[in-house]
Amino acid sequence: MRINNLEEYKLEKENFDKNPEEFWAKKANSFTWHKKWEEVLDWDFHKAHVKWFDGGKLNITENCLDRHLASSGDQIAIKWIANNPKEKNIDISYNELYEKVCQFSNVLKNKGIKKGDRICLYMPMVPELAIAVLACARIGAIHSVVFAGFSAKSLCDRINDAQCKALITSDGGFRGNKITPLKKIADEAMKNTPSIQCCIVLERTNTPIIMKNNRDFWWHEEMKKTSIHHHAEIMDSEDQLFILYTSGSTGRPKGIVHTTAGYMIYAQYSFENVFQYNHGDLYWCTADIGWITGHTYIIYGPLLAGATTVMFEGVPTYPDAGRFWEIVEKNKINIFYTAPTAIRSLEAYGNEYVKKYDLESLKVLGTVGEPINEDAWNWYFKEIGGEKCPIVDTWWQTETGGIMISNLAGINKAKPTFATLPLPGIKACIVDENGDELETNNTEGKLCVKYPWPSMARTIYGDHQRFIDTYFSSFPGKYFSGDGCYKNEEGLFRITGRVDDVLIVSGHNLGTAEIESAIDEHKNVCESAIVGYPHSIKGNGIFAYIICHSSPKDKKATGIEINDLITKHVGPIAKVDKFLYVEGLPKTRSGKIMRRILRKIASGEFNELGDTSTLLDPNVVTSIIKESQK
Ligand code: PRX
Repeated sequence: MRINNLEEYKLEKENFDKNPEEFWAKKANSFTWHKKWEEVLDWDFHKAHVKWFDGGKLNITENCLDRHLASSGDQIAIKWIANNPKEKNIDISYNELYEKVCQFSNVLKNKGIKKGDRICLYMPMVPELAIAVLACARIGAIHSVVFAGFSAKSLCDRINDAQCKALITSDGGFRGNKITPLKKIADEAMKNTPSIQCCIVLERTNTPIIMKNNRDFWWHEEMKKTSIHHHAEIMDSEDQLFILYTSGSTGRPKGIVHTTAGYMIYAQYSFENVFQYNHGDLYWCTADIGWITGHTYIIYGPLLAGATTVMFEGVPTYPDAGRFWEIVEKNKINIFYTAPTAIRSLEAYGNEYVKKYDLESLKVLGTVGEPINEDAWNWYFKEIGGEKCPIVDTWWQTETGGIMISNLAGINKAKPTFATLPLPGIKACIVDENGDELETNNTEGKLCVKYPWPSMARTIYGDHQRFIDTYFSSFPGKYFSGDGCYKNEEGLFRITGRVDDVLIVSGHNLGTAEIESAIDEHKNVCESAIVGYPHSIKGNGIFAYIICHSSPKDKKATGIEINDLITKHVGPIAKVDKFLYVEGLPKTRSGKIMRRILRKIASGEFNELGDTSTLLDPNVVTSIIKESQK
C-alpha cells in the first residue's frame, strides 16, 4: 500500500480519479477476510448513508495480530514507557500481545459480554488499555474509550448515552507527579449508570479503593482464570467497531461511531503513507488513547502495519521538559508524532532541554490537532528534526477516523502552517456561504469533503438525525468539517480553525455549550458565554464572559469556584483562563450570542468588531469593552 515517490503519488491520484471503488478495493485486498465483500461502496450523503465493503466478513484484530505472528511474532508490537523514568519499561511482542488479547477476550466473555454490547474504558496509558481495546474488537463488543482526564459526570453521561454494559478502569493512573484516582471517580459515575453490570479493575497505582461485591473484579484475578486462545468473532464490514465522544455545539457530546472494514483499511493506508513507515522503524505517537489520534495512530494503524508502536504513560514535562527527547535518544525513535501545544510548551522551556540529547535517529516528524504557527513549526524543524526530517502537518478529525489532508513525509512538499494536500483517495473542497465550490486557488471558505472515504464516521450513536444535521445539512451533498480553510496560489490547504461553537484548547476539542452549562451551575451566575483567544502555548485560551445575579464580592474566589465546577462537570482541561464580569451579552434579535464580537474583544481587537447594528442592544458592546479595559 506504500506510495514510494512522487511519480507513484501522482499515479495513485490518477487511479483514484479514474475509478475510486477499484482504488479502494485494491487496498482492501491485502487484508485477511473470512469472506470478501459484495459491494465496495453504497452511499447517499443526503441521508448520511455510507457503507463500505458491505457483505464482507472479518475481524480487525486478526489483521492487527494473527496475520503477523508467522513472520514477526517475536517482534515488539508495543514498547511501553512508564511515567516514572525509574520504572522498568515493558516490551510486548506480537506473540505476547496476541495471547494477552485472547486472554482478556475470554475474561469479557466470562462476564457475559457479547457481540454488539458497549464497553466503556476509563484507563491510564498502560498496555492493558490497548489490550482491552483489542479484546473488545476481538469479541465484537463496541469499545467506548473515555479520556482519563474527564470527570465523573462526563464519564457517567458517556456510559449512559451508549448504555454500556461494563466498565474497565484501574485503581489509579500516574501522570507526572500526580495520581488520578480513577476507580474513585468511576464509583462516583457508577452511582447513576444502571446499565453497568460489571467493572473490571486493573491494579496500577495501589491506591486504596472499594471493590463492590459481584460488580467489581480485579483484572489480574480474572486473567488467571482464562486461556490464551480465542477464536475471533466474525464481524460484518459495517458492524460497529467503536464509539468515541467528541464535543458538539450543544451540551450533549456526540458519540461518533466507526465501523470495521473501512476504518481498518484507511487506518493502515494513511499510517504507512503519511509517515512513510518502513519495516523496522520505531514509531511514537504521544497522544492519549482517549482521543481519536491514539485509536488510529497508536493502536490500529501501526499494529495493522505490523509496526512497533511506542506507548508513553507520562507527560512531556516530567521529571523535566527534556523527557520526550530523552525517550527519543534512549529508544532511537524514528518517527515522532505530537501536537502543536506540546511543541510550543517545550519550545518555551528553552533549547537546553533539547541540546542535552542526541536526536539523530529521527527521520519523520508529525503534528496534529490544531493549526501549528510558523514559529513552532520552524523550531520543530530546526531544533528537533535538525533540518533533515520532513514534517507532516496532518489535518483530520474524530469523525474522519484517519488523516485526510497532509503531505506524505519526504514525498510531496511540506510548507509551514499548511496541511498541504488531501491524501490520494480524498476529495476535499472549499465552499462559500452558499455551498458553491471555490475551485480556483487563492480562496478562503469552509472545508468540506464531497466523496465518501472508508474511515468516515457512520452515525452519531443513537441519533442519526443529529449526524445528518451536523455534518450533511449545511452544504447538501457534502460532508462539512466545521473548519475554515484557505487555499493558496499553489492550491495548498491551510486550516484556519473552527467556524462553529467548538473550541480547540491544547489540541482538545471542547464544546462551548458544555462549559457554559457547568459555569451556569454557580449559584451567583445568571448567564455566561465563552470564547477562545490567542494563547501562546495552548493555541486558544478560554475567556469567559459572566453575568452575575449580584456583583461578586471576591472575583478571584468566584473564578476558583467556577473552575472547580468546570473540573467537576467537564474536566480540568476546560478550565477558564480569563474571566470578565459583565452586565449583558451581545445578542441578535433572535437571542443568539454573537461570539464573533466576544472573540474580538477577548483578543483586544476593539476596532474590528464589524457590523453590530443587528444586535438587540448595541450598547452592551460598549459597556463590555469598558469593563475589559478596567
Ligand atoms: O479544527 C480541526 C483541528 O482539530 C479538529 C478535530 O478535533 P478532534 O476531533 O478532537 O481530532 C483531533 C485529532 C485528529 C479539527 O476540526 N485540527 C486537527 N488537526 C489539525 C487541526 N487544525 C489545523 N491543523 C491540523 N493539522
